[in-house]
Amino acid sequence: TLLRADGVRGRAARRSRQIPIDTTCAGSGSPNDSMTILVTGGAGFIGSNFVLDWLADPATRGLPLVNLDALTYAGNLHNLDALRGDARHVFVQGDICERALLDRIFAEHRPRAVVHFAAESHVDRSILGPGAFIRTNVEGTFALLEAARAHWGALAGDARAAFRFLHVSTDEVYGSLASDAPAFTETHPYEPNSPYSASKAASDHLVRAWHHTYGLPVLTTNCSNNYGPFQFPEKLIPLMIVNALAGKPLPIYGDGQNVRDWLYVGDHCSAIREVLARGRLGETYNVGGWNEMANLEIVHTLCALLDELRPSAAGSHARLITYVKDRPGHDRRYAIDARKIERELGWRPAETFQSGIRKTVQWYLDNPAWIANVQSGAYRDWVARNYAGREARA
Ligand code: NAD
Ligand code: TYD
Repeated sequence: TLLRADGVRGRAARRSRQIPIDTTCAGSGSPNDSMTILVTGGAGFIGSNFVLDWLADPATRGLPLVNLDALTYAGNLHNLDALRGDARHVFVQGDICERALLDRIFAEHRPRAVVHFAAESHVDRSILGPGAFIRTNVEGTFALLEAARAHWGALAGDARAAFRFLHVSTDEVYGSLASDAPAFTETHPYEPNSPYSASKAASDHLVRAWHHTYGLPVLTTNCSNNYGPFQFPEKLIPLMIVNALAGKPLPIYGDGQNVRDWLYVGDHCSAIREVLARGRLGETYNVGGWNEMANLEIVHTLCALLDELRPSAAGSHARLITYVKDRPGHDRRYAIDARKIERELGWRPAETFQSGIRKTVQWYLDNPAWIANVQSGAYRDWVARNYAGREARA
């Protein structure tokens, strides 16, 4: 079902915006409004995986959701094609910074929980243009917290006790680790280094304060680098896959020895469902894959998989590896200690890196139309801008 940002429902809204989602859900309110959740950013990479998994998981598939997404360059309704005609999914195109819109959504759908993914999420973009990060990640989270607080404040009894605001954040708020330092725990000091991580840190602090000051029932997850289906090819793994398939250079920033912890997106989504169901109010949970790897190792793994699954007559895909100028302020290492979520909620990732990365490469091989669709003129402009002046180094 599709709603326009101004709340107009149905055929007129669909015609006016030509968005390929069916509108079969007539009438007012969601099918069972007390069980509805509000997801923000549900047309992006992790958000769309979360929406699809939520509506497929036996524990949650009876619970409808409203998906609020502004459809920036990173939002893609094709990620949700499998939900065409599904009355459990109500899509609203709109901006989390617009308080009046948020109030209308809360009033109409009376969500029992908010799962907040919407954000500007790419470090390189934050370096070239930080303003959008402050607006969406800080001001948008503030607007959403205020709308949620107004809604929750008017609830009573069980509905008030059951309400949750789950904020999805990142391990990047903790800053960079030395190679021999222990992994980030939930009590690690905040030391964000990029405009992206600073804006996410600010949003985490707002969420914390809204709990401490107003009692808003919040939960925060700080997750490591995700990979999997539907990831926009500006991030390391999908960028390397699409470039390798096109025979283009694979740009390694600096010496390629920066380390990240990598988590399959489906595991991140299952962690969020656990935290939402059973997390302790006001707590933060680190979510990671127990899988630290250097960028160069990731790219070699991808090349080896592509050599196996889609061999190139020109030779190994690794021939395309190209060292380029480093990212300014590039964090050396992130690592997550995910013992708290395992101890308290029994969650551990189900995928190994080997199983998750194979599925991911296969997904990109199986979905050339999705890749072609996201490589619009705007995408090509971004690639030209980000990689200009990073001429290849020997
Ligand atoms: P993404 O960039 O793929 O998607 C973001 C979505 O938010 C898009 O659909 C976009 O249209 C929407 N959006 C942006 N601004 C908006 C606004 N003002 N109003 C409404 N919608 C808006 O991001 P992602 O990788 O799916 O990340 C989702 C969340 O997870 C983010 O909060 C991010 O900080 C966090 N996170 C991501 C990773 C990762 O590896 N991708 C790791 C840890 C945490
Ligand atoms: P990215 O996917 O942008 O995630 P983040 O910066 O949030 O961790 O980048 C992951 C790592 O890959 C990071 O160390 C930067 C590096 N990288 C490259 O070496 N080349 C690239 O073209 C990109 C996009 C990233």
